[in-house]
Amino acid sequence: MTYQGRFRVWRGDAEGGGLVDYEVDVHEGEVVLDIVHRIQATTAPDLAVRWNCKAGKCGSCSAEINGRPRLLCMTRMSVFDPAETITVTPMRAFPVLRDLVTDVSYNYTKAREVPSFVPPPGVKAGEYRMMQEDVNRVQEFRKCIECFLCQNTCHVVRDHEENKQVFAGPRFLMRIAELDMHPLDAAEETGTDRKRGAREEHGLGYCNITKCCTEVCPEHIRITDNALIPLKERVVDRSYDPLVWLGNRIGRR
Ligand code: SF4
Ligand code: F3S
Ligand code: FES
Repeated sequence: MTYQGRFRVWRGDAEGGGLVDYEVDVHEGEVVLDIVHRIQATTAPDLAVRWNCKAGKCGSCSAEINGRPRLLCMTRMSVFDPAETITVTPMRAFPVLRDLVTDVSYNYTKAREVPSFVPPPGVKAGEYRMMQEDVNRVQEFRKCIECFLCQNTCHVVRDHEENKQVFAGPRFLMRIAELDMHPLDAAEETGTDRKRGAREEHGLGYCNITKCCTEVCPEHIRITDNALIPLKERVVDRSYDPLVWLGNRIGRR
């Protein structure tokens, strides 16, 4: 079935912009990215959109469709009523470069702030051994395609630009959780306290478990339940365990 679909696409740049209406053919089996490409091919060759794989794996085509953060290439046209006008806008939490393309460098800055995996001393590459359940736990987090939809959705930065300085966002708090749960990570032996970092440098306390990040994740990673809440528990255990507290006091002398 082919029909004439109605679309409103945000056009503009850092100076400002607005919604522009387009009427475009929609064919059976298409996704929203196909429609954006058809708009480019027919009436607006200068329409800017970032994309790469068209398979939900590169994380490039993140935007908002009818106000909901989604991947353009994984949103089927069949989920909408053919009579509906579909609105496509850039991610709201990041500065617009042009049209649907935003500057996501906040995320790369935050990624660089997370200390990387520290290999265990005395164990050669190829000799690492882990329990299967530890592998499974961190493997879920490795499915992340870095689309930054969770970062865009979390109200801590979406509604408060000023929090970007102090809040790493769900994707990178999840990365800290992954490393902190990793049985072979030797960060602590080299003086990197991931739990303290999560609390004092990466803003874990700003997360009030609204779970909006989990709802929009195209990889269905249970960000809140499996990464953020366990990380909060680990941080609290560390802070309030009297033996750990005493050990830290003695260790500091
Ligand atoms: Fe995207 Fe999910 Fe990764 Fe967040 S955790 S960046 S929503 S894939
Ligand atoms: Fe934000 Fe997710 Fe926490 S949406 S508040 S990081 S649960
Ligand atoms: Fe790669 Fe959409 S184009 S995830």
